[in-house]
Amino acid sequence: MASPGQKVVLITGCSSGIGLRMAVMLAKDEQKRYHVIATMRDLKRKDKLVEAAGDTYGKTLSLAVLDVCSDESVKQCINSIKDRHVDVLINNAGIGLVGPVESIPIEEMKKVFETNFFGVIRMIKEVMPDMKKRRGGHIIVVSSVMGLQGVVFNDVYAASKFAMEGFCECLAVQLLKFNVTLSLIEPGPVHTEFEVKMIQEVRQRECPGADPETVHYFKDIYLPSSLDIFEALGQTPDDIAKCTKKVIEASRPRFRNLTNRLYTPIVAMKYADETGGLSVHTFYHMLFNMGTLMHISVTAMKYLTCGCLRSRTVSPN
Ligand SMILES: NC(=O)c1ccc[n+]([C@@H]2O[C@H](COP(=O)([O-])OP(=O)(O)OC[C@H]3O[C@@H](n4cnc5c(N)ncnc54)[C@H](OP(=O)(O)O)[C@@H]3O)[C@@H](O)[C@H]2O)c1
Repeated sequence: MASPGQKVVLITGCSSGIGLRMAVMLAKDEQKRYHVIATMRDLKRKDKLVEAAGDTYGKTLSLAVLDVCSDESVKQCINSIKDRHVDVLINNAGIGLVGPVESIPIEEMKKVFETNFFGVIRMIKEVMPDMKKRRGGHIIVVSSVMGLQGVVFNDVYAASKFAMEGFCECLAVQLLKFNVTLSLIEPGPVHTEFEVKMIQEVRQRECPGADPETVHYFKDIYLPSSLDIFEALGQTPDDIAKCTKKVIEASRPRFRNLTNRLYTPIVAMKYADETGGLSVHTFYHMLFNMGTLMHISVTAMKYLTCGCLRSRTVSPN
């Protein structure tokens, strides 16, 4: 249970990756300012978190079951918290989906929206009314650079994050009237199970329904480039956790928080040309006409950015 003066932080999806590192970093805060309720849908997956939490487990960090796709699970979890009091809600749980649209069943696409979009809304609907009543609170949503700029073969995942960005843009204005803050965290590639699951899934995927030419572009051109980009530009879950902690602790938290400054030009390009042509044609040339050049540039970037540049990209301020 939280001690007086401690902020209650509830995080979804803490069994791995970014959620796990956020939970541990906040629980290990030197001034013990937070009580973290680290949630996951299956407590059998708690071991990595418990190990990383060390002696904070049971003190500044507690565990709870929460499946963002279930109304009942969300309600039960929030009802189990003293006075249903959550100061900071971090919506982190999410799933990916990559591949030619023709080969993905609609049911799988709905699962992505059920988790990445409705899962977040389900959480916000449960926690926000109390925050509004108390005239205080902070809602954080882990979005993605792909919530701002679509990337080929990530059609449905990007759409789910775009949907979330639109939802948050609307809600942030209303919440300001109630002194409740809403912030988006927008990482580029991050080395987590997300990437591992994506690669495993793609290797198993036969891409039924997609023509051989599309499958070739996906498997032989997009995938190697994507892996290169992950390797060269990927941040660590700790980078994202650090950035999020800074957002929580800022006196005036920013609404948008790109965690990787190397992506700023990509987002800027979109707004520099309102016809959209610049972005579409740049991405087209990068993928289809500059494959080898891109591999070389990304490899060069990997060496240039190792260590020093990366550590300078995590501050939202
Ligand atoms: N990794 C990247 O490159 C990247 C880039 C930009 C944004 N993001 C975003 O960052 C967030 C975290 O992803 P990650 O990279 O840390 O991936 P991850 O290691 O796969 O973690 C995702 C977490 O979400 C949980 N989850 C999935 N469905 C859930 C549900 N229905 N209810 C509750 N929890 C659920 C998973 O739990 P289980 O263990 O039960 O599956 C896991 O703990 C996601 O929103 C993702 O879209 C990731």
